[in-house]
Amino acid sequence: MESKAPTAPSWKTFVFYILISFLTSLSVFAVLRGASKAKVDKICTKVETPAIYYAGESDRKKTPRGTTSTTESDLVILLWTWPFGERFPLDQCARIHGISGCTFTVDRSWYSRADAVILHHRDVCSSKTQLPQEPRPFIQRWVWFNLESPRHSPNLHFMDNLINLTLNYRRDSDIFSPYGWVERAKSAQNFRIPNKSKLAVWVVSNWDPSLTRVAYFNQLKNHLKIDVYGGGHRPLARDKTMSTISQYKFYLAFENSLNQDYITEKLWQNALLSGTLPVVLGPTRENYERFLPSDAFIHVNDFPSAKELAAHLHFLDANDEQYGRYFEWRKTLQPIGYTDWTTHYCKACQALQQQLDYKTIPSIAKWYK
Ligand SMILES: *[C@@H]1O[C@H](CO)[C@@H](O)[C@H](O)[C@H]1NC(C)=O
Ligand SMILES: *[C@@H]1O[C@H](CO)[C@@H](O)[C@H](O)[C@H]1NC(C)=O
Repeated sequence: MESKAPTAPSWKTFVFYILISFLTSLSVFAVLRGASKAKVDKICTKVETPAIYYAGESDRKKTPRGTTSTTESDLVILLWTWPFGERFPLDQCARIHGISGCTFTVDRSWYSRADAVILHHRDVCSSKTQLPQEPRPFIQRWVWFNLESPRHSPNLHFMDNLINLTLNYRRDSDIFSPYGWVERAKSAQNFRIPNKSKLAVWVVSNWDPSLTRVAYFNQLKNHLKIDVYGGGHRPLARDKTMSTISQYKFYLAFENSLNQDYITEKLWQNALLSGTLPVVLGPTRENYERFLPSDAFIHVNDFPSAKELAAHLHFLDANDEQYGRYFEWRKTLQPIGYTDWTTHYCKACQALQQQLDYKTIPSIAKWYK
């Protein structure tokens, strides 16, 4: 048999090879780009922008639609969008929060006479054209409003050199509006720990295995019985959430992103308002302690491993007195965990009347990490 000597690759083969790998990497790049664009499209709400929102002189004296009375001296605050498209009454600041002095509107024909415009990030982040395009009146301030973590807030650079004030859960924002807080109780609290028949619970909506919290959960579940609701696990009706959680001793308040001050309703509502002891995963313990007493929660970092955390939880489960110590603070303090859109927008109303200095934020992206 005659064996064929392998032919040395000619320069043609070589050029062909280079060309193919170039084309392959191009298409991989395109797919990746497409994927990240699809992600942004999914995250950023689509809002139809009215073609015309610039008001002529004759419109200026009318009361903005979607509001009640306007007092001459009121600040006019334009909500550029309903946040995530969710509607709510715009005239409740005085009644609920004792804050007056603002007339809110969502009517864009009031753009030219608005003292401030509030831009809810997730509704404008799909494209820069979602932002106001008309020239900005001299006195008008733009407020950047966002309660999502940096990881879920794409295209922050759209805001470069446009924003005067930030409205956010971060303590160092211009208008600080957290998901919850503790207040000194007005009268003696007769808080009672609800009766417990179950051990540990986690309610998860976004089951993303790439997140730290899923990795930690996977370790913890080897040492502790945890019931999981939502995210493809046990179903949980919205109106049953609190009563279900309150039967458990421990609630895993695991945040989806680990960022400064990013402490959400998972802690404030799900755990504290249901009377269940939170086991937190999020920013550092020191960060949590800026928001609530040090003995109001257990931090996963308090223990060298998930195994040791589980051992401590088992210990507390068997010791009612020790468990009860985590609720002592509720004799004098109470958690406030139900914040709605009104709470945040009313804070803006108050701050816009108080913070009058000129300033522009060069880059939100540099700060919001
Ligand atoms: C909780 O347990 C106590 C003592 O066993 C009982 O008296 C009480 O009725 C229970 N409360 C509820 C709401 O089930
Ligand atoms: C708000 O920011 C804009 C855009 O940079 C700037 O022109 C304007 O002077 C700022 N206004 C105030 C009151 O800070």
